[in-house]
Amino acid sequence: MAEAYTIKMPKLSDTMTEGTVVTWEKQVGEQIARGTVVATVETDKAIMDVEIFREGYLSGPLAPVGAVVPVGGAIAYLVADVKEVKGGEAAAAPAERRKSERVAETEPHKFEPYGTPKAKTHIPAMPHGATPAPRPRTGLASPYARQLAGAHGIDIHSLKGSGPGGMILAADVTAPVTPPGMAKRIYQVPGIGRPMDAMEKAVAHNMEYSLSMPLFRATVSVSPERLAAASKKEGYSLTVALAKAAGLTIQKFPRVNAVYQHEDRIVERKQIDVGLAVETEGMGLVVPVLRDVMSKGLKQLNDEWKDLVARARIKRLKPQEYSNPTFTISNMGMLGVTNFDAIPSPGTSAIFAISTAGPQGMPVTITADHRIVNGADAAKFLNTFKQFVEQPESWISGGAGALPVASGREAIVQGKWDYDVVIIGGGPGGEDCARDLADHGKKVLMVNDAPFPGGECLWRGCIPSKAWRAGADRMRDRAHDAHLGILNTTKPKLDWLRLEKTRRAILETRGELALKTDKGMKVEVRQGFAYFDSANSVVIDTSGNQNDPHARPARGKGGKTDAQGRANVAGGRMPGATERVIFGACVIATGAPPWVPPIPGADSKGVLTSDTVWNLKTPPKKLGIIGAGAIGLEMAQIFADFGAQVVTLEARDRPLIEVEAEVAKNLAELLAKKQKNLKLITSAKIEKISGKPGAMVLSYSDASGKKATFKCDYVLVATGKRPVLEPLALDKAGVRSDKGVITVDRQCRTNVPHIFAVGDVNGGYMLAHTAGHQGRVSAATLLGEKAEYNQDKDCGVIFTRPQAAFVGLSVEQAKARGIDAVEVKMPMSIDAKAMITDETDGLIKLVADKATRRIVGVHFLADHADTLIGEAVMMVSGDMTLDQVAHAIHPHPTQTEMFGEMARRLLSRLRRTAKVAK
Ligand code: NAI
Repeated sequence: MAEAYTIKMPKLSDTMTEGTVVTWEKQVGEQIARGTVVATVETDKAIMDVEIFREGYLSGPLAPVGAVVPVGGAIAYLVADVKEVKGGEAAAAPAERRKSERVAETEPHKFEPYGTPKAKTHIPAMPHGATPAPRPRTGLASPYARQLAGAHGIDIHSLKGSGPGGMILAADVTAPVTPPGMAKRIYQVPGIGRPMDAMEKAVAHNMEYSLSMPLFRATVSVSPERLAAASKKEGYSLTVALAKAAGLTIQKFPRVNAVYQHEDRIVERKQIDVGLAVETEGMGLVVPVLRDVMSKGLKQLNDEWKDLVARARIKRLKPQEYSNPTFTISNMGMLGVTNFDAIPSPGTSAIFAISTAGPQGMPVTITADHRIVNGADAAKFLNTFKQFVEQPESWISGGAGALPVASGREAIVQGKWDYDVVIIGGGPGGEDCARDLADHGKKVLMVNDAPFPGGECLWRGCIPSKAWRAGADRMRDRAHDAHLGILNTTKPKLDWLRLEKTRRAILETRGELALKTDKGMKVEVRQGFAYFDSANSVVIDTSGNQNDPHARPARGKGGKTDAQGRANVAGGRMPGATERVIFGACVIATGAPPWVPPIPGADSKGVLTSDTVWNLKTPPKKLGIIGAGAIGLEMAQIFADFGAQVVTLEARDRPLIEVEAEVAKNLAELLAKKQKNLKLITSAKIEKISGKPGAMVLSYSDASGKKATFKCDYVLVATGKRPVLEPLALDKAGVRSDKGVITVDRQCRTNVPHIFAVGDVNGGYMLAHTAGHQGRVSAATLLGEKAEYNQDKDCGVIFTRPQAAFVGLSVEQAKARGIDAVEVKMPMSIDAKAMITDETDGLIKLVADKATRRIVGVHFLADHADTLIGEAVMMVSGDMTLDQVAHAIHPHPTQTEMFGEMARRLLSRLRRTAKVAK
């Protein structure tokens, strides 16, 4: 007859020594399949399933419901044949207990608990990180006994073993008999006590562990109102917000996250796990733990917390969910306690005791282990916590607190690679990333399919267009000269060739400078087209290199041209000259070329894009433009200022979709009123393009459906940009894309953890500074530092006249994110400087969060917005409040005074409306 398999009381928590049988989910004689839950047992804090991972028939004797069985003790049996099934209930015999204790003792850590879910985050063993006591010179000791002796600091040599051959067992270590020389006083209390339940025992034993800690206390008073308001507004529990604030503080004082290890060692821990003591009806005081608080946003923590508390109430917490925090908060604020302190639990060095807020604020007391934390550090720790609580705006909604903590782990895969990181693309995204990585000593290769770095921004975008804009500004500004009494300057003449010479010289100088800087910073730059070969290798095709830095290079591998077959693509590549390079990480920064919609005639020679407009031999006298985005409107006004007659057709009902609605609307009205040679037609539908260069016809219908044509020299198509992904062979690396762009997270990481994508190729704002920032974010993440891209704080300037600019959110965008936003605006016409220079068109508006007074956005339609926006960027990125801007001293006479003025006005309005509401 085959031997029966014993179903034992599983060890479901580090502190569990015994469990109570709560239910039998299967009957004796029932067939058991793998993974069946046969019973539930109560541990020291939760009711857990006992799951069986073998087949057979449930057989007695069963431990009866309510029986307390030591860990490792038999609760039932499993037999292979139904005929071998035995019935009956077992009595919880002392002998049984003794035997099972030995099982647990010999293998205290090898014991694999049935059905214990595998935790994703690291749960340290308990007794926490203790070094086992040495083997006794005098004889034997079980591993568990040595572990316990180590954890308690008990001299194992002084113990007498009660096990076989005098072996020291756990029972000998925990026995209430004072070994000679150890002054453990036992108070005899008259009467017969009841046994403690599992929970009471766990608490009592934990507190006993803590007695060996040399503790001290320090208190500060904190004003929690702003945190309470901010967390309420965001929909987060204050407890969770306090845990995050504690996490942020620990990040600055990592010593608090360390713990003393017997004997004379310190265990330093990177992961911050905050335990939060809660009172529950079913389980008394429990301390569910929010794991890894710094790698999670508040929303995720809040969701996890709700779930933990809900399950704690029905005793359904798993042991790893309430054990081994690295820091604890006990909040008795709601219980009307004026002051208290708490005892750090084993495995931690400090605990916060938070009392009820009074006139002096909310007392927060730290009780800390003096072996780890000294008094001055505790004081600094408390004051930093106070700052985080009192100024929550900087971290509670999208600020620093929402950032993942520096993992400290590089995302570069370790190995023997040709390069630590390969960067594909040498525009602002690729270059900034490459330089940061090289600056940190990484071996970096930047592959760029043009002779010089700089990408679209330098060669076909921001810089050349601003050279043209600067020429156009000089001409336009002449009209204002008479306003200040300057005569005879109103008839300027454009020397196109001279302007082009200047423009080209600037690009070449900047390109050469960039290459020199890259090389000087030890970035290896290779001209070629890189495409993936695997998740750790690219092939670099150097066969098709062309040497005109002003032209867009050919895209594609092995002679393939642009996936969309655009006419402007320079010649294809010859297959052949290739090189394979292996890497530990890769950053894709390949940009996005102009996208031309399928309009009939869009492939004709007289159609220009932002790639080819730079080849114009003379400025057009008549220009048709499709698209009133940034490129369309900037170009429209440049050429209109040069004297051309321009018609811009826009499919939407407003231009510049990225800028704030009122700004865009006012700009459209201004153009209609003041720039007679520029016609902006919104809600237009393009029928077709026909003709040849110098004699083009643009056929369209307007909002009312009326058909019209515009005869012009050229048609500029400025209908957006789209990445070209096919030639990169992303599938070889397993990199995912969606709707034609590479999908990334806030660290610009693709679905492949060591491959990143920055700039236009990931489909966000297609702006040079966005790409540059994302390049730096990906470099920092690769280096294991904390960084993220937050579009809500990004900005842009459209170089029209006046300039349209934005940083942060509009009122509509803020409201969509749940912010109760208000705005204040000032027309430029009331500003003294604007009056002097006759630049009175437009407005500036400031958007703030009513509850926290944080400035969340600033929007401009103003000349000089490109420099004024600098201060606004600092307001938004620095989470500045209206009060801070109102109190800042702005220099007079400058237009920056308007910021202070607007902040004061809005504060005044908020004050008055608050009074009325009372
Ligand atoms: P865009 O996406 O900003 O604007 C394209 C416009 O064309 C949209 O308003 C769209 O509604 C319109 N459109 C699309 N198809 C159309 C059709 N068939 N008929 C009529 N209208 C049509 O793209 P744009 O202007 O080409 O610029 C590309 C990128 O470069 C943008 O992300 C832009 O922000 C950026 N850029 C930024 C600059 C700056 O910040 N100063 C300057 C130039 C470009």
